[in-house]
Amino acid sequence: MRPLEDRLARRATGKEPSPIRELVGYLKIDGMISLGGGYPNPDTFVFDRLDIGFKGGATTCLDGSDLVAASQYGPSNAHPGLANEIIAWHKAKDGVDMDPSELVVLNGSQEGLFMMPYLFCDADDSIALSEPAYPGALSAFKSFTRSFVAVPLDADGMDTSALEAKLDAMASAGEKLPKFAYTVPSGHNPGGVALSQKRKKHLLQIAAKHDLLVLEDDPYQLVRLDGTPPTPTIQSMDREGRVVRLDSFSKIFAPGLRIGYASGPAEIMRQFVLFKQSSNLHTSMFIQALLHKFMTTAGHEGFREQISLNCSFYRANRDAMIDAAREFLPPEVSYNVPDAGMFVWFVLPDGFDAKRMIDEDCEDLKVLLVPGNAFSTTGGLTNCMRASYSMVSPDGIREGMKRFGEMIRREKERTK
Ligand SMILES: Cc1ncc(COP(=O)(O)O)c(C=O)c1O
Repeated sequence: MRPLEDRLARRATGKEPSPIRELVGYLKIDGMISLGGGYPNPDTFVFDRLDIGFKGGATTCLDGSDLVAASQYGPSNAHPGLANEIIAWHKAKDGVDMDPSELVVLNGSQEGLFMMPYLFCDADDSIALSEPAYPGALSAFKSFTRSFVAVPLDADGMDTSALEAKLDAMASAGEKLPKFAYTVPSGHNPGGVALSQKRKKHLLQIAAKHDLLVLEDDPYQLVRLDGTPPTPTIQSMDREGRVVRLDSFSKIFAPGLRIGYASGPAEIMRQFVLFKQSSNLHTSMFIQALLHKFMTTAGHEGFREQISLNCSFYRANRDAMIDAAREFLPPEVSYNVPDAGMFVWFVLPDGFDAKRMIDEDCEDLKVLLVPGNAFSTTGGLTNCMRASYSMVSPDGIREGMKRFGEMIRREKERTK
């Protein structure tokens, strides 16, 4: 395995830690009089006490030294109390032990999607991924490179055999191989599929063979719709330290708080910390303190109960969408039934133009889906559409799918 320095993009090499932030450790020494820090004095902070009520009736409050810590600058990697909670949560859900140096709390997992190409990709580097792909990832990646090694996505997730064949061919031709492979292993956005265990293993084998890192982006891991437990994560199967994993609290807690975390090899997480030192210092301590309060108040059992309630909610919506798809869509439209997440990916017959369907009929029929080109590295996938069942009631979903059926009928007329 190549050393980290040989993997980094030029912009990320030789990055020095913030000279001031690195002094923070000295503050813990008993009797230290610090004339060094530039922190505002807590006596000037505005909050006195924050009462928090959770659905289900539990209440807690943020006050005293916890409130001061929440209002003050904090460590770049994580709120210390939340770090402990996350380490225990991660171990319980994934069976993976983490040292604090292997964890960085992020402004949502999206921040990690930006950091990876920032750290590893010069303009002539590429990223391996499957298509369709999450547009937020494409947008982050394209800030650093326009070069992708894209393979199809099918009912078992990323087609790893196609990936291996492409990488083998690139290696034989002496071409530069991708810096990392990006995958969304559960409830894929937009594909609605899961990466099979066989393919997870295969992806790790390919990563070892071609010395790639793997970016496992898993925000829908716990949004499970059929009551089955999540399958082992790629990180849990990694014996070489190749996997950077992104977890998100957006889909299981609240997305507006912007909180998620990265975990992975300490030397890569160190680079994540250096990035944060130069971009936003740290994820909001206030938000981390809120999540910390929720996790300590609810406990793992309470948190899981809340997630399970939400999963039942999404299950009813998923079922409404699939039932309506069976009833209203013609048989030549194909899709997979998601077992996690919030999306169904519809593949329409060749020659159908999803963007034209929206341009021509969305306003009239009053139904909106996202045309497939948003999920392609090249503007392809023009005969596909993503539907989400998260925000509409089952009745609304049924009506929306009926209208989508009519939209398809009209496009069929146009393509005759
Ligand atoms: C696959 C995928 N990754 C990452 C994100 C970003 O999530 P977060 O809110 O944690 O930044 C999303 C959000 O929709 C997503 O679908």
